[in-house]
Amino acid sequence: MFPADRPRRLRRTPALRRLVAQTSLEPRHLVLPMFVADGIDAPREISSMPGVVQHSLDSLRSAAVDAIAAGVGGLMLFGVPRAEDKDATGSAASDPDGILNRGLRTLRSELGVDAVVMADTCLDEFTDHGHCGVLDAHGAVDNDATLSRYVDMALAQADSGADLLGTSGMMDGQVGAIRSALDAAGRTDTGIIAYAAKYASAFYGPFREAVGSSLQGDRRTYQQDSANRREAQLETDLDVAEGADIVMVKPAMSYLDILREVADRSPVPVAAYQISGEYSMIVAAANNGWIDRDAAALESLVCIKRAGADVILTYFAVDIARTLSGTS
Ligand code: PBG
Repeated sequence: MFPADRPRRLRRTPALRRLVAQTSLEPRHLVLPMFVADGIDAPREISSMPGVVQHSLDSLRSAAVDAIAAGVGGLMLFGVPRAEDKDATGSAASDPDGILNRGLRTLRSELGVDAVVMADTCLDEFTDHGHCGVLDAHGAVDNDATLSRYVDMALAQADSGADLLGTSGMMDGQVGAIRSALDAAGRTDTGIIAYAAKYASAFYGPFREAVGSSLQGDRRTYQQDSANRREAQLETDLDVAEGADIVMVKPAMSYLDILREVADRSPVPVAAYQISGEYSMIVAAANNGWIDRDAAALESLVCIKRAGADVILTYFAVDIARTLSGTS
């Protein structure tokens, strides 16, 4: 009798497939990135990310309540200052009345301790040149001068109630600098979700519109080269040694090999960020009728989970949480 081995047996019915599925995705694994903009009183659409908006403080509050009700595991907040509030050092980032810190306080007071609130700890939305750090006299990003700005920003975000700080700037020593400053300020409970392996990527494109970025050029002097695997291990090891509570790989879908390697060696939980371009590609194809939006989104997230992510940041978080719990 040929063939004797018939793997299709376990694929015959949905019940059999469910029984043997190795990877499961639950709403609690998903984190929704959100944008809060200064000086607007109604949500503003982001044309490069259909279905995603810049929130006003009021709409942020209600969308966050809905997201938590849908069962998502957490929220990651980005601030979009008014153009006139941007400057060379990104002052509005560490100003307690800057839009991101106001947004964090809004989330904290609305949601209480039952929701995990994360903050983007990076300067690029707040600098008039759009880089993730301050510039030296030659226009290059000055690593060590940037660290003290991150420290100020981190302390303001901790004061505003963030549970986890998302260090996404890719400066050397950023996790250690922030950890020691938090500890010295008595903020030993505030954690760090470190963008450990963050690659320079064309897929961040739609995010530039989402945050009204002023960047000309690219971030290749600080974000990693997509050709490299080894330095993802180095960056992860450094961030763990400097005190990261969670490490992240970003982008996700084109970097699943990196994600698997980080997951295999990390002693702390691993997150992956399905970024703006990954979201918008799926949505654009679906809007053209070429693929099924929910099925493609779900498949992409299950595969990111299978590759080793414990936590996934995704703009699909609420939709997929509802799909998973059968409430969409
Ligand atoms: C930097 C930051 C970026 C993203 C998250 N944090 C932009 C960049 O590095 O250029 C991109 C997220 C996305 O594309 O969805 N603060």
